[in-house]
Amino acid sequence: MTDAPISRLTIRRPDDWHLHLRDAEMLKGVLPHTAAHFGRAIIMPNLVPPVVTATQASYYRDRIMAALPDGMSFTPLMTLYLTEETDPADVERAHADGIATAVKLYPAGATTNSNSGVRDFDRVRPVLDKMAEIGMPLCVHGEVTDPAVDIFDREAVFIDKVLKPIRKKNPDLRVVMEHVTTQDAVDYVRDHRKNLGATITTHHLIINRNNILAGGIRPHYYCLPVAKREQHRVALVQAAVSGDPRFFLGTDSAPHTDPNKLQACGCAGVFSSINTMSCLAEVFDVAGKLKNLEQFASLSGPKFYNLPPNEDTITLVRGDVVTYPDTIQTGEGPVTVFDPGFPLHWHVED
Ligand code: NCD
Ligand code: ZN
Repeated sequence: MTDAPISRLTIRRPDDWHLHLRDAEMLKGVLPHTAAHFGRAIIMPNLVPPVVTATQASYYRDRIMAALPDGMSFTPLMTLYLTEETDPADVERAHADGIATAVKLYPAGATTNSNSGVRDFDRVRPVLDKMAEIGMPLCVHGEVTDPAVDIFDREAVFIDKVLKPIRKKNPDLRVVMEHVTTQDAVDYVRDHRKNLGATITTHHLIINRNNILAGGIRPHYYCLPVAKREQHRVALVQAAVSGDPRFFLGTDSAPHTDPNKLQACGCAGVFSSINTMSCLAEVFDVAGKLKNLEQFASLSGPKFYNLPPNEDTITLVRGDVVTYPDTIQTGEGPVTVFDPGFPLHWHVED
């Protein structure tokens, strides 16, 4: 059964449960685009240097609020970057004082600015134990970094080699598998109900690896985890539109300037905060599941994080083709906007 065609949809204001805002000029350039549509976002801590301690997270939150244009409202939910030196007492304080909402686990070397991440998972056991005790979620970049493992297999191998052992030793730890890209991850989350959720990005619902590599290399579609084959994209769409509350939106909007993307060794990351809601509405509409867009973008995330959904709403209206810039200008340079490769018709009403 699919929905009858509708052309107007009012939903609770969405949140973004995985977002890179960066700092300084880039922060100023991208933040208004997120704040235009989203009420809150889980802010990734992979700055240079990373946001490791409660104090650093508190200062970073201040810088975000200072960069928010007058008249806009937005709540950044901060994360701490987990290192092998992280002090469980500092994490506990950050949680108790409302400074940090979650802790982020990057396997060392997995992605942009992850060199201070975790190499030996036993060394972070005391932090994970403390988090399980206080109910603080762990956001996980789920890819192994072993160069011997093929990049397209790194998520599936991570589930077996890292995630399962962590969850076995810490069954009470609440874990978000971030930006899942495979059928394997979808199945794992679906089959393991307790204390497990997953975010799905906008771009992984839309592109597969052919979009990156077939007919010429397209650096603006290169992100981590890298998009997989079509069968996996279809599994992600099914999970997102299903209404299953364990799958929720985390755009992983990750701005890099064009010169940093367009070079012999280009950065990983897709910038999608501007047109994410229009893209998602299109995906859910095509799947005949617009009625579940609110669940995915506005309800399931707060439910996982034990927060109330936003009180206010946004309205999406179907009309003429949506226009958005190819590129935004920031004080650090131009940033290319995610191109879904098809026209968008769902406007977010002002
Ligand atoms: C992110 C970034 O640029 O910070 N890049 C990406 O491709 N998603 C890091 C990350 O979330 O892996
Ligand atoms: Zn990310």
